[in-house]
Amino acid sequence: MKKRKKTTNKNRGLITILNPKSPISEQYRTVRTNIQFSAVDDSVHTLIVTSTGPGEGKSTTVANLAVVMAQQGKKVLLIDSDMRKPTVHYTFQLPNTIGLTNVLTKQISFVDAIRETEILDLFVLTSGPIPPNPAELLASKSMADLIEMAKEQFDLILFDAPPILAVTDAQILANLCDASLFVLSSGKTDREEAMKAVEMLKAAKGKLLGTVLNGRKEVKSSYYYYYGHN
Ligand SMILES: Nc1ncnc2c1ncn2[C@@H]1O[C@H](COP(=O)(O)OP(=O)(O)OP(=O)(O)O)[C@@H](O)[C@H]1O
Ligand SMILES: [Mg+2]
Repeated sequence: MKKRKKTTNKNRGLITILNPKSPISEQYRTVRTNIQFSAVDDSVHTLIVTSTGPGEGKSTTVANLAVVMAQQGKKVLLIDSDMRKPTVHYTFQLPNTIGLTNVLTKQISFVDAIRETEILDLFVLTSGPIPPNPAELLASKSMADLIEMAKEQFDLILFDAPPILAVTDAQILANLCDASLFVLSSGKTDREEAMKAVEMLKAAKGKLLGTVLNGRKEVKSSYYYYYGHN
């Protein structure tokens, strides 16, 4: 039988932890700087990372971004709000029996569901068990309450999300967050679809900060590449 290519790879080491001096890690720090510069007027407290379709590098981008933000001394919470294909627990090698879905359904408190990571100042809330109604949970009052609580305790809250064209989840989150970041996969993302996705993000309440181009072949050692959107 032909093997399907899996994007839920359980071996998901983060380059910003494994090799912080590499040019790729440097590019994540460039993305960090650009986020900070594009948000001069109102600082970004909540940020969602999404893309057009599956497997374009959302989870990789948001997890590395969480690491470099925490390395700068910010108290960061990474929330796995991809309740359809969650991967944050694999990345940080944590159990996923308790997480976001349990908090939203009031089985556990927000504080008790948060996990420490090996990185100082970086905390995660894994997805928890996959629910039958992710969009409904994300649009609930519990989710809005959770975000307010998180804002009181963290400098930055990052959301890993599903693709924006596939389901409504990312759009719901973009309306709850201050800002969004769009990941494009070099040579993979369809132009028309990307434009559709960008329009959807622009229409959301959160400001579209920019785009991260993932998987670009090395050009003068810049593997990841960032440009603004305005
Ligand atoms: N620039 C890259 N170079 C090599 N491998 C990469 C790169 N970016 C991502 N990957 C790998 O590709 C796979 C998909 O990436 P990732 O899980 O970050 O995408 P995603 O957009 O979150 O996917 P999904 O839509 O399934 O949530 C993972 O195994 C990841 O390790
Ligand atoms: Mg993902």
